[in-house]
Amino acid sequence: MNSLKNLSVFFLLLLIFTDPIVLSSSSSTTRSTSTNNIDYSFSFFDSTTGNSLNFRPKNQSKSTAKKVPSSTGCEVWTKACSEAVLALARRPDTVTWLKSVRRKIHENPELAFEEVKTSELVRYELDKMGIEYRYPLAKTGIRAWIGTGEPPFVAVRADMDALPIQEAVEWEHKSKVAGKMHACGHDAHVAMLMGAAKILKSREHLLQGTVILLFQPAEEAGNGAKRMIADGALDDVEAIFAVHVSHEHPTAIIGSRPGALLAGCGFFRAVISGKKGRAGSPHHSVDPILAASAAVISLQGIVSRETNPLDSQVVSVTTMDGGNNLDMIPETVVLGGTFRAYSNTSFYQLLRRIKEVIVEQASVYRCSATVDFFEKESTIYPPTVNDDHMYEHVRKVATDLLGPTNFRVVPPMMGAEDFSFYTQVVPAAFYYIGVRNETLGSIHTGHSPYFMIDEDVLPIGAATHAAIAERYLIEHG
Ligand SMILES: *[C@@H]1O[C@H](CO)[C@@H](O)[C@H](O)[C@H]1NC(C)=O
Ligand SMILES: *[C@@H]1O[C@H](CO)[C@@H](O)[C@H](O)[C@H]1NC(C)=O
Ligand SMILES: *[C@@H]1O[C@H](CO)[C@@H](O)[C@H](O)[C@H]1NC(C)=O
Repeated sequence: MNSLKNLSVFFLLLLIFTDPIVLSSSSSTTRSTSTNNIDYSFSFFDSTTGNSLNFRPKNQSKSTAKKVPSSTGCEVWTKACSEAVLALARRPDTVTWLKSVRRKIHENPELAFEEVKTSELVRYELDKMGIEYRYPLAKTGIRAWIGTGEPPFVAVRADMDALPIQEAVEWEHKSKVAGKMHACGHDAHVAMLMGAAKILKSREHLLQGTVILLFQPAEEAGNGAKRMIADGALDDVEAIFAVHVSHEHPTAIIGSRPGALLAGCGFFRAVISGKKGRAGSPHHSVDPILAASAAVISLQGIVSRETNPLDSQVVSVTTMDGGNNLDMIPETVVLGGTFRAYSNTSFYQLLRRIKEVIVEQASVYRCSATVDFFEKESTIYPPTVNDDHMYEHVRKVATDLLGPTNFRVVPPMMGAEDFSFYTQVVPAAFYYIGVRNETLGSIHTGHSPYFMIDEDVLPIGAATHAAIAERYLIEHG
């Protein structure tokens, strides 16, 4: 999730992802299913597992697991089913394995679209569990499946990328890569989804449909989810869920809300062009400073005069640059900022009005203007809006699994998250799981160099994912 508090980090990412090679879609649109075109010989993961990473290509046909009608199973979800899932998650060997997976990823953070080793570790573990998958989607992404191979299909998603931040936490499994860190918990997200995979695989005979596990690159860069969808991540999928760790809630507390959970977030950069000239004879020039000033004032009117006060929105102008010559009227002024909204309609309405206001105000002062919303760089995140029924499913599952005191309805937040792209396609719910533990010191916000988690969250997160998916199939078959 993007806390978006640190714009320098944001713009650093922006710079990285304006690289034309990274933006090229040619490599991402491949539907190849091959898994044997990678050199595993120097994997950093095998040194710690001691295993030979010698994969055989997977058979990519749909799983052959047959639905086994069982009178002792979970045809109807009961307390016993919740307990069985939790018991699997809490097995000491599973907990040890979950921590080791998370720590390996934490020690070896990889930035957006560079999650090569992380993706390799995931595939290695999926192979060991005998879980089939398609790879690559969106360059490093994976779509794995467990169950009957038949509808309904329900998806659970984890993001894999780290941040360009130097870890400041001194601990045994600190990042080994200078300047890169899992400072947003995506290492834990991957581990929890792997844990769910293990639980669901051992309950595969009980699944009344198919669970799709999505391991996604580049959440922080915004286009990971979009490219996953373009590469077929949501084919056949009728609902999707995902979790984010949160330092605001105590360890393993689940939080969510119906409707808008996270804001939509966009950035704009306008170039207002006039005619350069000596400031002492302004009538010979066309002044873009005056046009830009009028635009800034008018932009403030969008939220204050045009929008419903109960529908929270933000438009902020954060930069204005006309050069530094005190004696010249400049040729151009560059104006930029950000906007947020909680509903899809309001979000795109803001975008339209920002453009209109800047262009029209420029023309009042005889200038011209162009406005860029960085749509190519995919720094536009629509709002993350939870479907009411999917939210209710999460609430019910979490409450039955962990008890009513371990579920909270949380307020909406101004951060943004690229899970929103999935919410545009199928009914979805996003929820938080707490990692706050004062004793351990896991009290720092995401994107902080001091960010850390309470690893006790891992089995609970894995069980929650698994129960959400398994129970969805039972109740929507
Ligand atoms: C993959 O599995 C399908 C269905 O079980 C089978 O028909 C096919 O021959 C298998 N392909 C390979 C390459 O093993
Ligand atoms: C959000 O708005 C955009 C632009 O108007 C539209 O393309 C998209 O389908 C909308 N999404 C939803 C979920 O309504
Ligand atoms: C915090 O972590 C410590 C050490 O692992 C543990 O003993 C304690 O129970 C945790 N507290 C909470 C509230 O989870």
